[in-house]
Amino acid sequence: MEKVVSGIRPTGNLHLGNYFGAVKSFVQMQEVYKCLFFIADWHSLTTRPKPEDIQASSRTIMAEYLACGIDPHKAPIYVQSDVKETLELYLYLNMNTYLGELERVTTFKEKARKQPDNVNAGLLTYPTLMAADILQHRVNKVPVGKDQEQNMEMARRCARRFNNIYGVELFPEPQNFYFNSQALKVPGLDGSGKMGKSEGNCIYLRDDDKTISKKVMKAVTDLGPQAMNSEKPEVIENLFTFLKIVSSEETYKYFDEKWNNCTLRYGDLKKQIAEDVCKTVAPIREKILEYSANTELLDKIAKEGAEEARESASATLKEVRRIIGFRAF
Ligand code: ADP
Ligand code: TRP
Repeated sequence: MEKVVSGIRPTGNLHLGNYFGAVKSFVQMQEVYKCLFFIADWHSLTTRPKPEDIQASSRTIMAEYLACGIDPHKAPIYVQSDVKETLELYLYLNMNTYLGELERVTTFKEKARKQPDNVNAGLLTYPTLMAADILQHRVNKVPVGKDQEQNMEMARRCARRFNNIYGVELFPEPQNFYFNSQALKVPGLDGSGKMGKSEGNCIYLRDDDKTISKKVMKAVTDLGPQAMNSEKPEVIENLFTFLKIVSSEETYKYFDEKWNNCTLRYGDLKKQIAEDVCKTVAPIREKILEYSANTELLDKIAKEGAEEARESASATLKEVRRIIGFRAF
């Protein structure tokens, strides 16, 4: 069975962007592929989280993964820092990766601009750590958003280069993979193109109905349709994209017609969106609360997940060590 791996950094609660853009497809994929999902806590160190927050944030994402429907019996969930094999591979990959190519990665340049006082080596080698996450399991498919394409290109380069240097075919070249064939981008309701933590415009899976309604009702709009069948300006297009994601096809058509014949009232559209978001979020939220209260279960799942992930990674590392010329361990 084909293998899949993906992870999310524990830097806050999951929001609708994470859910529709990533976790929902994880849930579908676990039925078809051998999936491993993890919590990228090492990657979150680039911004120096407080020690007391580290474990809590991992448990938060673990509870949210489970509440969304990831079944650890089908797809183990592990915490990145529990699998030390990753670090060994990270070191080897770093030896074959050039400063110039790491400096050219846009996310590095952006982060360096955002935190000029802390442009650390971890930030620079973020892509090789991500490559190690992926290559240690020798997977072909990695479900990640569009923003990760450059990191994925680096992972492929790491795979190719290792294979070439040693004349082996150990690592397959991992491909970005979208379960429903296309990457989905959940827009922000504040007029920005993307819902994201750093954009500060998220609807979280933990939000209650009232909070959700408030956030949706505040969505940026304009004066309304001015002519029949006119093109939608970007903020309105974003609202419709949102509607398409959370509502039924029928509902989408209903409002689209209203736009086309100039009878659309944004209040109605927002109410509909709020209602449908609540329908999606409410059952997930309830489960998040249940799982969050059961830290024993969360830790047990993480422990079992780590065991399975380490088994997969250590088989790869055994080969890597032999190929590089180290003695068997
Ligand atoms: P954030 O942008 O809030 O910091 P992350 O960068 O941690 O979120 O993203 C974690 C995962 O969720 C990635 O696979 C990413 O592609 C996906 N993701 C985040 N925001 C969105 C969005 N608005 N639409 C689609 N996918 C998203
Ligand atoms: N860089 C990814 C993000 O910001 C998180 C991540 C780290 C990841 N390692 C990974 C995703 C390996 C997929 C595979 O969203």
